[in-house]
Amino acid sequence: MNIIKNLFKGNMNEEIGEYIIKNDHNLTISILELGGIITSIKIPKNNEIIDIVLGFDNYDNYFGKHPYFGAIIGRYANRIGNGTFCLEGKKYELKRNNGKNHLHGGIKGFDKVIWESETIIKKNEAQIILKYLSKDGEEGYPGNLQVYVTYTLTNNNELRISYKGETDKPTVVNLTNHSYFNLNGEGEADILGHFLTINGDYYTVVDENLIPTGEIKKIEGTALDFRKREKIGRRIKEAGGYDHNYVLNKTREELSLGAIAEGDKSGIIMEVYTTEPGLQFYTGNFLDGTLKGKKGNFYNKHYGFCLETQHFPDSPNKPEFPGVILLPGEVYTEETVYKFKWN
Ligand code: BGC
Repeated sequence: MNIIKNLFKGNMNEEIGEYIIKNDHNLTISILELGGIITSIKIPKNNEIIDIVLGFDNYDNYFGKHPYFGAIIGRYANRIGNGTFCLEGKKYELKRNNGKNHLHGGIKGFDKVIWESETIIKKNEAQIILKYLSKDGEEGYPGNLQVYVTYTLTNNNELRISYKGETDKPTVVNLTNHSYFNLNGEGEADILGHFLTINGDYYTVVDENLIPTGEIKKIEGTALDFRKREKIGRRIKEAGGYDHNYVLNKTREELSLGAIAEGDKSGIIMEVYTTEPGLQFYTGNFLDGTLKGKKGNFYNKHYGFCLETQHFPDSPNKPEFPGVILLPGEVYTEETVYKFKWN
């Protein structure tokens, strides 16, 4: 196990760290203190190095406009309808950055802030521990929220992402990571030939603004059915591109298998385990070929997919969904594991 730290300059000339972690099988992951962004996941396969996440070659581009490549999303991942919610009788107004809705933590979410960091190396794992204090009122949210996100790379070829949070006032929390994967290698082509299995029998129905109506429906008989290994592209047109929250099959908040994806050309497999109740499957529907990614490649529609483990969208306004309220004295903890397999 090995960790290297590089420094680069931010907008205000401040020094920002980039970590490169490598395990004993040469699986290499790069992470920035900016937004906790995963900028690369490099898999050594047949004397080739396959980078399986979308992003940029240049640090500067991560400060510009991009669709949350690789970033930590918070304080609330996904949408909150009308950017408002009530908590203990008080109404909170959040920043609206997606029409009239609040998306992925607002205008300056956890994806755009600089995190403090420390590292731990053990025999079979190496960790980057990121820490951020989200102040009371930030983007409209109540309470000072101290957040820790730990990225652990193991010699079992797992990337474990552990989330922890504590608040001094009642608040809502829902954190995720927004990596765009292309298991055949980023920038090469779209992901429509990939195979996918999702361990979810139900999804949350949404309105035209992608806000859940509250209804939870069976995926059986729809283009959302990935209970059996299926090509992503098979029914994607019918689905209008995937951007759906699956209700994962589980009875307890335990780490359980959420999804398995497989690059049809590379044979690289990624298993996703999570403690979360939901999984947003998003197929990069809004990528439009204007973003120049690594090696000068332009990212077209469906060039990457996200598997965002999370609580359901708009849960602060849906008391019937699993709860997202964090009270003082409680500790928010969630974990997601991406396990990579190749030969
Ligand atoms: C959401 C999409 C959104 C995208 C932004 C995804 O998590 O589900 O609706 O457009 O993030 O990059």
